[in-house]
Amino acid sequence: MHRLWSHTLQRLSPYTPGEQAQNSDVIKLNTNEHALPPSSGAVSAGQQLDVERLRRYPDPTSRLLTKAIAKANNVSSDQVLVTNGSDEVLAFAWTAFLSDTDKVPAVPAMTYTFYPVWAKLLGQGLHQVTMNSDLSIDVEALKAWDGPVVFPNPNAPTGLSLPLETIEGLVAHNPNRLVLIDEAYFGFGAVSAAPLISQYDNLLITRSFSKSHALAGLRVGYALAHASLLEGLRRVKDSFNSYPVDAYAQCVATAAVSDSAWFAKASATVEENRAALAAGLTQLGFSVLPSQANFVLASHPEHTGIVLTEYLKTQNILVRSWSSDDLLPWVRITVGTKDQQACLLSALADYLND
Ligand SMILES: Cc1ncc(COP(=O)(O)O)c(C=O)c1O
Repeated sequence: MHRLWSHTLQRLSPYTPGEQAQNSDVIKLNTNEHALPPSSGAVSAGQQLDVERLRRYPDPTSRLLTKAIAKANNVSSDQVLVTNGSDEVLAFAWTAFLSDTDKVPAVPAMTYTFYPVWAKLLGQGLHQVTMNSDLSIDVEALKAWDGPVVFPNPNAPTGLSLPLETIEGLVAHNPNRLVLIDEAYFGFGAVSAAPLISQYDNLLITRSFSKSHALAGLRVGYALAHASLLEGLRRVKDSFNSYPVDAYAQCVATAAVSDSAWFAKASATVEENRAALAAGLTQLGFSVLPSQANFVLASHPEHTGIVLTEYLKTQNILVRSWSSDDLLPWVRITVGTKDQQACLLSALADYLND
């Protein structure tokens, strides 16, 4: 700690990103990247980018990408705001809507671990709502909270999702508070709340190209909301960095979101592989939560998540686990290719049968 650090900085506990392997023969199932390569149309659009677009500043409004996202989601361009990954738009949302003392947001106790970090850096606190015994979100407790609510759908790291009627009930329950739904894992089976944004101006949805479009390295995310709510995020963006999304990212993401055939096929492959992974783990004695994301959360009656993670690392396979009491039994495994999953299941079988 340096003597010049601010009080806020001294209180921070920054987010720790998942391990990024340097070695290419590692089977990397720890940070929920897509199992497949991105759309080939998107890759070649990037390769053909006019060099002149690198010399100049990028379009500050990401106009073409915004238009393509609007078209893919059947909304208008003024209901879309593009950012550097969904982490950036979530941080903007904290500043715009969740930073006043009378706007302390409620989040599920088991959820994306970046929320408490933003709450400390940009907000005034966080109200954590205990999970139901099956690890689903306690929607009634969120309803009863007077302030804004924030949660992923499907939730991370459980992978469990809420149906649209439940989400609409929560949004309609109190039009004077924000409901922020983090749809980072959109596209793998959960129903999106996007069709509700024109009707409810207290609903904000965030999305990511990292998972659904296999473009985690590109860092593109976006928000969908009623135009007047979104204007608040735009004001924060333009007070922070008016050129957040670079020219290359805008070009590749525009081609990616326009390739609906790739999206349909890739999402179906992930769902199929997820079912195979869950079945394989169940056969080995794991309990597996019914996930609608590109990962599964599993627990074994005899081994903690950390023990399994450490063993798998010795086999060149990365998965994710935690040391907190609530998550200690669990291991989170990203859906991989069929071959990667076969290696994982065979390594686990060797360990468990030893
Ligand atoms: C629930 C959730 N929200 C947001 C993000 C951030 O995604 P991005 O890569 O778009 O910043 C993640 C990343 O893992 C996540 O799990």
